Amino acid sequence: MLSEWLQKSNYTVIFTGAGMSTESGLPDFRSTNQGLWRKKDPSKIASTQALNNNVEDFIDFYRERVLGVKEYKPHKGHYILSNWEGIGKVKSIITQNVDGFHQEAGSERVAELHGTLQKLHCQTCGKEYDSEEYVNKEYHCSCNGILRPNVVLFGETLPQDAFQYALKESEKADLFIVLGSSLSVTPANQFPLIAKENGAKLVIVNQEETQMDFYADTVIHNKKIGELLEELDKRMEWD
Ligand code: NAD
Ligand code: APR
Repeated sequence: MLSEWLQKSNYTVIFTGAGMSTESGLPDFRSTNQGLWRKKDPSKIASTQALNNNVEDFIDFYRERVLGVKEYKPHKGHYILSNWEGIGKVKSIITQNVDGFHQEAGSERVAELHGTLQKLHCQTCGKEYDSEEYVNKEYHCSCNGILRPNVVLFGETLPQDAFQYALKESEKADLFIVLGSSLSVTPANQFPLIAKENGAKLVIVNQEETQMDFYADTVIHNKKIGELLEELDKRMEWD
């Protein structure tokens, strides 16, 4: 059914979460066995509070994640989505991920709701750096301020340009496919509902149940995203 909907769709929008990158080797946040937040309290390390009051733990946590995105690479599924954008099938990708893997695989129309680990900026003067600084254990700006990743921390608002772009794309979609998100974080988890309210078919592909399964036209559990995208890609007769 999904391949027919994909074939017939005029405006497919993809929404991805951490489950899109686990097959590249990056852990997600909430899956039963490996989720990062199963072992650590996010509010104590991935928050503005942690940055201000617990900067060593904050930097340790984010240096580990920067090393991860530098070491691991996009997998076949990222490249399939990029090819589908190239032939006009996928119109855009809305991602909660901060690994930059969609762009690395060639996707161009990507809204990064939670920012990116590829860049850092100074907490004091705002000057931007490549996250290579964290790899080299450089944590201070030339003005001596602390360098932090360009990700949205707990307690911060989302980048307005990405938010507005995601809103417009969700309203235009006639097929909205969620790949690898528990859909448990606001306001990111509102976009599948906005798409549905504007007439899109909603498909949720996630290893485990999500909070939004009830609203989906179809749900695919217990299926690895990479495998599913490869099967769909083989089945498509792209005209
Ligand atoms: P939250 O569930 O408390 O609220 C979401 C955030 O989005 C709030 O900070 C709120 O100000 C903002 N928001 C709500 N409605 C908005 C709108 N209409 N336009 C723009 N912004 C709006 O989330 P949180 O616990 O404060 O975390 C903030 C976000 O950062 C979450 O989406 C979370 O997933 C993300 N986050 C990212 C990382 C990371 O490493 N990338 C780590 C922690 C949190
Ligand atoms: N195939 C299909 N589903 C998968 C795969 C896979 N290969 N790997 C993991 N999953 C599923 C897990 O079962 C899990 O339910 O992906 C989901 C990922 O959900 P979360 O770990 O909650 O990640 P996400 O939804 O992206 O979290 C949202 O929370 O902390 C913040 O900023 C962080 O962007 C993140 C946001």
